[in-house]
Amino acid sequence: MTAAPPASEGDPRQARTILVTGAASGMGAATATRLRGAGDRVIGLDRNDPGDGGIDVVADLSTAEGRRQAVAAVREACGGRLDGAVLAAGLGPVPGRERLIAEVNVAGAVDLLVGLRPALAAAGDAKVVVLGSNSTTTTPLVPRRAVAHLRDGDVEAALRRLRRPRATYAAFTYAASKLAVTHWVRTAATTPDWAGAGIRLNVLAPGAVRTPLLEEQLAGPDARRIRAFPVPIGQYGEPDQVARWAELMLSSAADSLVGSVVVVDGGSEAWFRATDWPRPVPARRLPAYLLGMRRWSSQRRRARRE
Ligand code: NAI
Repeated sequence: MTAAPPASEGDPRQARTILVTGAASGMGAATATRLRGAGDRVIGLDRNDPGDGGIDVVADLSTAEGRRQAVAAVREACGGRLDGAVLAAGLGPVPGRERLIAEVNVAGAVDLLVGLRPALAAAGDAKVVVLGSNSTTTTPLVPRRAVAHLRDGDVEAALRRLRRPRATYAAFTYAASKLAVTHWVRTAATTPDWAGAGIRLNVLAPGAVRTPLLEEQLAGPDARRIRAFPVPIGQYGEPDQVARWAELMLSSAADSLVGSVVVVDGGSEAWFRATDWPRPVPARRLPAYLLGMRRWSSQRRRARRE
């Protein structure tokens, strides 16, 4: 008699319930289409409902109240158990939308995940994919304090730091928002609340992908700068390519993927930062590293006692 494989290894896979935000357009829409095609039940969430049946929850993730409503509606729709989530709702670096960028790109993912954590924990091996960006590592000089403020939910303090100089306001706010949400994911991912509850939190960081978001930028004042940006493979990504990575990161192939940033950007990031990482822990970080070892040991001792 052979042992039955773990549930997550089943093939064909069991029907799961997956939340996809930003499901009305671009990579969110492509991901929702792909998952539905593979037999998953998708809860599509967006501010817009194009009326094609792909949106189950209409919610505005740019306000705290909209995010509360979104959490309540998704909880009800999933019946208290969510097998996965793809957080793709977001805005690009368009001048004049800085506050929206800060709210939707960070709290629009973080508040939803925090509110839905019990439903994700109920699945036992939930997988979460947050859409980041390669702008996190390819935009120079983004103010670090602003990133920390955004990660901690203080949008006003972050915008005060990002506002000057005006010329970089949108680009820096965008990069800071993606850095903040990426840092939040990587910090939360390894904690008892998330990894300890079987929830795999990861970031998918695309470069330029042909979606309405990119097309808007290519039609705007930044078009020349965007076209001049190095993409060594010589072509922009397509939404369905990114959707396939999201699908993989929701599958049992990702059972050991925790707190990772998967960069899918045609080589831009490697072009600029090839030898910046991986890199060993520098001397000044040694105390924090040793503290991390001790924290891990006491966490394990506590878990064994409980
Ligand atoms: P998109 O513009 O095609 O789709 C974004 C979706 O988010 C739209 O359906 C929009 O209605 C929704 N959304 C925006 N604000 C919302 C709000 N307040 N409440 C609820 N939904 C809202 O964008 P795309 O390109 O598919 O982007 C998906 C994610 O990937 C975004 O987070 C974006 O920042 C990120 N990204 C995009 C890249 C690109 O080149 N397209 C590159 C790197 C990252």
